[in-house]
Amino acid sequence: MSETVILGKKVLAPDAAPAPASTFFIFGASGDLTKRLLLPSLYNLANEGVLDDGFAIVGVDHMARSEEEYRAYLTEAAADLPGVCDTSGNTWSWLMSRVGYVTGDFEDAQTYGAIRDRLGERAKTTGNAVFYLAVAPRFFATISEQLGGAGLLKEENGAFRHIVVEKPFGTDLPSAKALNARLLGVASEQQIYRIDHFLGKETVQNMMALRFGNGIFEPIWSKEYIDHIQITAAETVTVEQRGKFYDATGALRDMVPNHMFQLLAMTAMEPPNSFDADAVRTEKTKVIEAIRHIKPNEAIGVAVRGQYRAGFVNGQAVSDYRAEKDVAPDSRTETFVALKCFVDSWRWNGVPFYVRTGKALATRRTEIAIQFKRAPGVLFRHLPTALKPNLLVIHVQPDEGVSLRFAAKVPGRKVRLSDVEMDFKYADYFKAAPSTGYETLIYDCLCGDPTLFQRADTIEAGWEAVEPVVEAVTSGFDDVQFYSAGSSGPAMADVMLAQDGFQWLPLEREPVP
Ligand code: BG6
Repeated sequence: MSETVILGKKVLAPDAAPAPASTFFIFGASGDLTKRLLLPSLYNLANEGVLDDGFAIVGVDHMARSEEEYRAYLTEAAADLPGVCDTSGNTWSWLMSRVGYVTGDFEDAQTYGAIRDRLGERAKTTGNAVFYLAVAPRFFATISEQLGGAGLLKEENGAFRHIVVEKPFGTDLPSAKALNARLLGVASEQQIYRIDHFLGKETVQNMMALRFGNGIFEPIWSKEYIDHIQITAAETVTVEQRGKFYDATGALRDMVPNHMFQLLAMTAMEPPNSFDADAVRTEKTKVIEAIRHIKPNEAIGVAVRGQYRAGFVNGQAVSDYRAEKDVAPDSRTETFVALKCFVDSWRWNGVPFYVRTGKALATRRTEIAIQFKRAPGVLFRHLPTALKPNLLVIHVQPDEGVSLRFAAKVPGRKVRLSDVEMDFKYADYFKAAPSTGYETLIYDCLCGDPTLFQRADTIEAGWEAVEPVVEAVTSGFDDVQFYSAGSSGPAMADVMLAQDGFQWLPLEREPVP
């Protein structure tokens, strides 16, 4: 990417070459993910000019429709998302002229015959294909095996065949292992793209630039200088229409082994020797493998689960989680989880990583906060309040940026200190292109770059680390704590940190004045 300046802001000019021509099959062509995320992302990529002229989309779904009807469906779907796609512009017509449709049941071999025919028709343009599984998890292995059985995953004459698998990838360690085994039975690891959409977020990718592209952070990025780390993904949304999935899953499985551990891995990984996909993924996997495994009976004290009760989020009334649609009235499923983790490596030995995530909380905020050790106090011990530790916060979303808290002298004749904050905001420096976060991931998959996708061993290491907590939960060892919707989560989560002499950064806070 080259740098240009527009309206006083640095803009990354899209000098990325168009991804190689390919046919992009979407299984689950009428699903919510296709409508809310894939369609806008493909539109944004087309707008950027990084889709090749030979690119085509083929929706695959059991609902019988003509291609014309499918294009009309997508145009209507886009109209439901105001401000996302301009359906009257050239980009939209360009994209729609490349859309086809195959009606078929995912479990029926005939569907795959129709896909083979479609690829045959496209053979003069390209043999490359991406099979995007935007479907319920129970179909991941079935579709992959059907594709394999129909010979559609054979990479011949230089053409690639990639499968994209959405989350959740398994529901525990054995099911993740079983799914990996079935996928790897029909495709090689290089062909499988396991999505974790947090890795498509610009600020998450910026972690590598921040840590390894600057001389000042890495030397102090260790147990010698860092006291503890807090990783937060707080949401204001409730379970909305996803009660059925969510009640069987819970915040721990939904967010921790994947998104939260990816943030942790980005924070704690050793510098890789290159941006080569396996160099990066190996370093991240080493961190996740090094997360201390606890025993199920040790879960109390290092894990707190919460469930929201009625309350107000941003002034809107929210009902009890147990009263949500498709949620059991006596559900013990957590909508909040806080964990205390240790990475048992030389760099991090003894440094707690506190991880929390939850729904119906006071504010939406995803961030990584690195708290440094306090300065020795001899010079300032006459001051009424103790020195505060330095705090580096990576704001993942919203208001993407990085801030650093430090002490400064208050002007005047007496020595008094105050906390101040240096604040870098992406929006102040860069003009960002509209993005759902999936654009980078789709583009990378089309280009054959799996760096931002999860490898089989990474996923299994994540499940292995949370397994004892999952076990403690399923054996009824711990119990879920209640918290009011619109609060910061259950009080026990505060107690967990207080016992170590720390406190969570408030979810609702003003920047330091
Ligand atoms: C998904 C989870 O993977 O991530 C959802 O299933 C969660 O429950 C979502 O709301 C959060 O993603 P984002 O990008 O909105 O922070």
